[in-house]
Amino acid sequence: MPLEDAHGRLVSDLRVSVTDRCNFRCRYCMPAEGMPWIPREEILSFEEIERLVRMLVGLGVRDVRLTGGEPLVRREFPALVGRLRAIDGIEDLSLTTNGYLLGAQAADLVAAGIDRVNVSIDSLARGRFFEITRRDALDRVMAGLDAIASFPQVSPVKVNAVPMPGFGRDDVLRFCALARERGFQVRFIEFMPLDGDRSWRSEEVLTGAEVRTMIEEVHPLAERPREPHSTARVFDFADGRGEIGFVNPVSEPFCADCNRLRLTADGKLRTCLFSLHETDLRDPLRAGADDAELGRIVRDAVWRKELKHRIDEPGFRPPARTMSAIGG
Ligand code: GTP
Ligand code: 5AD
Ligand code: SF4
Repeated sequence: MPLEDAHGRLVSDLRVSVTDRCNFRCRYCMPAEGMPWIPREEILSFEEIERLVRMLVGLGVRDVRLTGGEPLVRREFPALVGRLRAIDGIEDLSLTTNGYLLGAQAADLVAAGIDRVNVSIDSLARGRFFEITRRDALDRVMAGLDAIASFPQVSPVKVNAVPMPGFGRDDVLRFCALARERGFQVRFIEFMPLDGDRSWRSEEVLTGAEVRTMIEEVHPLAERPREPHSTARVFDFADGRGEIGFVNPVSEPFCADCNRLRLTADGKLRTCLFSLHETDLRDPLRAGADDAELGRIVRDAVWRKELKHRIDEPGFRPPARTMSAIGG
């Protein structure tokens, strides 16, 4: 019996946050001073993550993405990748990272069996990168990107950029050059109301359509057919050199065929990025529940998966947790 919700959607994609901590302070995510971190004893151990992922794979999960906070700040992170790789039934094991520690860990991650890596880079200009992330770390992140890209078995490598106010033509053209010259799939992501400062305003969202218009003034694009369940609309540069994508959750929600489920670092199941309600798996797990019991809890939560997010609708309330604690 596959994992199904009341709207007929099948759930097969799991995003696991391995820590709420981060070594960056991106403006669209965290306040400068950071967040109150989840106490260590509340965080799932690697054994607990492995147990829950194995149980969820038994229920039909096929794709697993590791996120944070920043996943690579979790001690011995590649060892977790190795444990999950050993689970039969995972077809795609991927990672989303800010890239800061990727230079140091790329080889271990590949050896542990990671299939794909997405690196968040919000500007290719050093000063602007610093302004957005509050860390002067562009060179180091680019070195991390190069390190992971040097392993041909990790493919494709994607670059995620959230265009924040002030994002302009120069920025967009630098990203196009990165996509065209290096073969990365660069994706522009609309800013969502999940920031730690709670300062999100819909007027501040640079939409995918606006970015696309900027690109097409220079580089014509041709859209590819949409892959089911994908977050991104993907385009080829019309001259055949390079590809670019747009993740438009605000202007063009992709909830209708959402197949995603999230597990937070402290063991809560979230059926939507914007869920107002979470289902605890950690306490039952620690109390000795077997897979059948955990499976019932999961099925029940998935059945009630939210139809869609309600960003910009009257009465919209953001979740209590912000992005770093949910896991992108
Ligand atoms: P690929 O499988 O490589 O395409 O990755 P992905 O786009 O699913 O994952 P990634 O971690 O790179 O996320 C890209 C952006 O999509 C981030 O800003 C995520 O927060 C956002 N995203 C991922 N899943 C969802 C979702 O279910 N709803 C919304 N609104 N945004 C999502
Ligand atoms: N809106 C959109 N994307 C965000 N991310 C983090 N916070 C936000 C937000 N408020 C992105 C990161 C990363 C991915 C996991 O989520 O840039 O690429
Ligand atoms: Fe850290 Fe990612 Fe949040 Fe930036 S977006 S502060 S890199 S968790």
